[in-house]
Amino acid sequence: MAILKILKYGDPRLQQPAEPVTEITDEIHRIVQDMLETMYYANGIGLAANQVGILKRICVIDLHHGQKPDEVLVILNPTVIEEEGEVREEEGCLSFPGLYAPVYRPRRVRLRGQTLTGEWREWEGEGLLARAFSHETDHLNGKLIIDRMSPFTRASFLRRVAKRQRHGEWEASS
Ligand code: NI
Repeated sequence: MAILKILKYGDPRLQQPAEPVTEITDEIHRIVQDMLETMYYANGIGLAANQVGILKRICVIDLHHGQKPDEVLVILNPTVIEEEGEVREEEGCLSFPGLYAPVYRPRRVRLRGQTLTGEWREWEGEGLLARAFSHETDHLNGKLIIDRMSPFTRASFLRRVAKRQRHGEWEASS
């Protein structure tokens, strides 16, 4: 297992759609283990493969920071198939470390995808889980939190990013 480097905003891979996983090989298992380890190390609750430079449709979600092993989600090829409502709440992303801003998300999300054994199934989430489903699926479609902010919030958020870039606190690509 290995802790992978998390790409920051500015790296083009974060804004590219990831490719479907067609075969669940040992390599896919290894990527998932590394992604989980990287997510826990970074103290995040979700991570998408393109955040570690791998353009495959894989995401991991754990709202409990490893405290409830039964509730760790590894989802391959996720698609949002239903969503309802809209909630605006402070949100962050490991690719914008240390920055938070209000982001619009559906209140309830129904997701379809594959487990690590290849079985297709559906998940339903509300609140924080709905937010995570939407956030990670967005990543795999090349979308970021700035794409779900109001224009004013987005502009001020990107000014905070630019300030960190100027101060050399933001190295996007490897
Ligand atoms: Ni993120």
